[in-house]
Amino acid sequence: MNKAALEISGLHKHYGDLEVLKGIDLSASKGDVISIIGSSGSGKSTFLRCINLLETPSAGEVRLHGELIEMRTNKRGKREPVSMRQVERIRSRLAMVFQGFNLWSHMTILENIIEVPIHVLKVPKKEAIEKAEALLQKVGLYDKCAAYPNHLSGGQQQRAAIARALAVDPEVMLFDEPTSALDPELVGEVLGVMRNLAEEGRTMLVVTHEMSFAKEVSNQLMFLHQGIVEEQGDPKQVFANPSSERFKQFISSVY
Ligand SMILES: Nc1ncnc2c1ncn2[C@@H]1O[C@H](COP(=O)(O)OP(=O)(O)O)[C@@H](O)[C@H]1O
Ligand SMILES: [Mg+2]
Repeated sequence: MNKAALEISGLHKHYGDLEVLKGIDLSASKGDVISIIGSSGSGKSTFLRCINLLETPSAGEVRLHGELIEMRTNKRGKREPVSMRQVERIRSRLAMVFQGFNLWSHMTILENIIEVPIHVLKVPKKEAIEKAEALLQKVGLYDKCAAYPNHLSGGQQQRAAIARALAVDPEVMLFDEPTSALDPELVGEVLGVMRNLAEEGRTMLVVTHEMSFAKEVSNQLMFLHQGIVEEQGDPKQVFANPSSERFKQFISSVY
């Protein structure tokens, strides 16, 4: 059987009385690029954080290539993963790119990229450096190997963060508004790198406000509103023929 790269069913998350995610289903096959859109506070970041277990879902299942991430309710009534070893293993197969880049400021760009491969994945240093250099070529930053993050523009920092994410050979890449912190003239260079990754067949979940990316690059679209999937499907069809009034309002507000 051809298992989905990532399969999420019935995902719920609440913080106390605040129910942020109210039952989300999503299935990503290898090579799918799924855009997740929705207004601020709709639960998009929480959804990504539940997938890589930065947050423990309150209910529901997450499977990576068929492997169920096991969760339980502890004695204090709190949901938690059964095995931190499993969580670490699963996390090492995912990679997240954040709005604020999150590069380590005391390390050069090259050091940022080789850190996890060398110290967590135990890749020999020479091999890690060769791979990092190739990734920097790919994102157009080879000449910035020895620079520190704060000497780079936002667009360059985000491209470096994408190279760092690629360095672990992730099965699924999670992007949380990767271009939202950038000056408008720098958005294109980051979207260009992401478009190349999509064309290479990478499996990607992308929270974004870039409607042209959602429409032209992704092959699935999910619109979240107050923790519910209001609209889902092929982006071209959904944009041409939205069924949800809220989605219509949302797209008219962002254009
Ligand atoms: N750790 C937390 N504790 C309490 N409330 C939270 C926490 N994280 C997020 N929330 C709330 O969950 C809702 C959804 O947040 P978020 O997932 O960040 O939305 P989005 O990314 O779509 O803007 C918001 O109301 C936010 O205040
Ligand atoms: Mg967010």
